[in-house]
Amino acid sequence: MKICFVGCGNIAQAIIDGLLKSGIATSNIACVERNEKRAKLLRAQCLQIIELEKISLIDFNLIILAVKPKDALSAEKNIFKLAPNATILTVVAGISIKKYSQPDAIIRAMPNTACAFRKGITGIYAKDQNCTAFKNAVSLFRKVGHVLELKSENEMHRFTSIIGSGQAFLYQVLNIYLQELEKILPNQETDIKLIFEDFVGSLGDAFSQEQNFESLINKIKSPGGTTQAGLESLEMNGLSKILLEAFEAAEDRSMKISNEQ
Ligand SMILES: NC(=O)c1ccc[n+]([C@@H]2O[C@H](COP(=O)([O-])OP(=O)(O)OC[C@H]3O[C@@H](n4cnc5c(N)ncnc54)[C@H](OP(=O)(O)O)[C@@H]3O)[C@@H](O)[C@H]2O)c1
Repeated sequence: MKICFVGCGNIAQAIIDGLLKSGIATSNIACVERNEKRAKLLRAQCLQIIELEKISLIDFNLIILAVKPKDALSAEKNIFKLAPNATILTVVAGISIKKYSQPDAIIRAMPNTACAFRKGITGIYAKDQNCTAFKNAVSLFRKVGHVLELKSENEMHRFTSIIGSGQAFLYQVLNIYLQELEKILPNQETDIKLIFEDFVGSLGDAFSQEQNFESLINKIKSPGGTTQAGLESLEMNGLSKILLEAFEAAEDRSMKISNEQ
């Protein structure tokens, strides 16, 4: 399968890293990237940088649009002008399919940066989910993690808030842990970040053994103990409310971006 990324920043890079780890040859990936710093990094990975004008010269199975929302609609118009029969898979948050100039040739996907480690979770939607391009897209994203085929485009907003943005909410929480750990071990020879890597990694290991957070918590907590005291404090301060409101804020923003375009 030959694919071309238009816009090769954070998310495209994560998908590319995952695809290369899955064994896809660099010769099957082309990149259109206007940012020279980014382009240099891509060249260092032996990836081919092409001018947008050359996009119709190669028969790409998919063109993946991965630019910021403000750049998306002008970029897609240019792509369709040059390659009217292309199918564009857009990972741009918040812009609904009907806003694109050729909605029937658009597939929407919402991957996360875990694609780089082939542990991504990608929500994907298109009007026609039986066409070859949609099947190609699903199989491509399966190479870099899990794929959830969404039944309606509206589900994309909530999915974005939990899996896309939500990953950053967990990083924010874990950063508080790291800062507290650094406070009690200020001048340690040991690399705290390496210790923390195991701490974070072990959470996934534990979940893979026992896929139930309540029972994982019960293994740590004892009645009247330290964990229980902390958990009660979290509950009293409304942890669930705080997180649910963060999901809602991200979901609302996703809907607003979609109306702004
Ligand atoms: N980051 C994530 O975790 C994530 C997850 C899911 C979806 N998304 C979506 O993916 C999109 C990209 O996000 P990102 O974080 O990867 O952004 P980013 O790091 O800013 O990458 C976008 C890249 O595309 C370049 N670009 C913009 N317009 C272009 C054009 N017409 N031709 C060629 N290159 C162009 C930009 O160059 P300049 O620097 O010159 O602007 C930039 O290097 C966004 O719409 C976002 O909603 C992101």
